Amino acid sequence: MRVRVHRKGEYIESVPMKGQLFSLITTGDGTEIIHHKLEDGVSSYLAPEEGWEALEYIYILSGQLIWKRPEGDVVLSPGDSVTAHMITEMAMFVAVGETEILYVVSRPYFHNYSGSIQKLFDLAVKIEEKDGYTSDHCNRIKKLATLVGERMGLSPYEIYVLNLAGFLHDVGKTQIPEHILNKPSKLTDEEFEQMKLHTVYGRRLLEETGMPDLKIVGEVVEQHHERYDGKGYPRGLQGNQISKLAAIITVVDSYDAMTVDRVYQKGRPQEEAMQEIERCSGTMYHPEIVRAFLSIAGETKL
Ligand SMILES: [Fe+2]
Repeated sequence: MRVRVHRKGEYIESVPMKGQLFSLITTGDGTEIIHHKLEDGVSSYLAPEEGWEALEYIYILSGQLIWKRPEGDVVLSPGDSVTAHMITEMAMFVAVGETEILYVVSRPYFHNYSGSIQKLFDLAVKIEEKDGYTSDHCNRIKKLATLVGERMGLSPYEIYVLNLAGFLHDVGKTQIPEHILNKPSKLTDEEFEQMKLHTVYGRRLLEETGMPDLKIVGEVVEQHHERYDGKGYPRGLQGNQISKLAAIITVVDSYDAMTVDRVYQKGRPQEEAMQEIERCSGTMYHPEIVRAFLSIAGETKL
């Protein structure tokens, strides 16, 4: 028998993730005990997944967690806890103030989740650098997309998906041959056809993680080059066939591409980029999203 004391703050491994900190306290026999710290307003989810039969348990250590239910919110305070087993519906929790919880799960979860998402984040940054952007392009897209999403009144879960999709939208470019990615001159038709596939590759990479949230993010990523008039790729979807979240990323990605200074070219002024986006409302971009974007751009320096 082995007995081990875990001093406060002493973890096997900690992974920071957008307003959250996951720390693995101990693991054995397939069970994991995780310390999970959430900043004010950050959401966390328990999602049903095929083949996932783990018992999940959440114990509130400090702060407050609101369980968002259609029938009404449930407030969870320190000492309260939640058990989930074979759930059929997604349960969403939002932290009020800095909140710490103990998460116990009867199947290995920690490395699966933290490992795959971290790897994707690293890949996304690497690809933006190759594209001639500086490494904060992913962060800017994420930030702008969130602003537009909030202005449009999206739900916290939609904002969460939008956030991840904004950051990871071009991750599929890691599968595109270097000579196409780095070609300084115009791509041939055949090369462009290959380049278009970064949308499908992105979805696959996210799907392969096996995480239900990332699968949903993948569907958004696949559509970020669709156009409102149906002339986009990879599927030529049009209008409201396109996910609203993907349509938001399309607008902010174009805006950022136009305005940002790259290694080899100076960005265009904000005014000019906004006019261009307005001009393409209803053809390239969803008019409702253009309206939300322009109203934000009119108020703040983006
Ligand atoms: Fe792209």
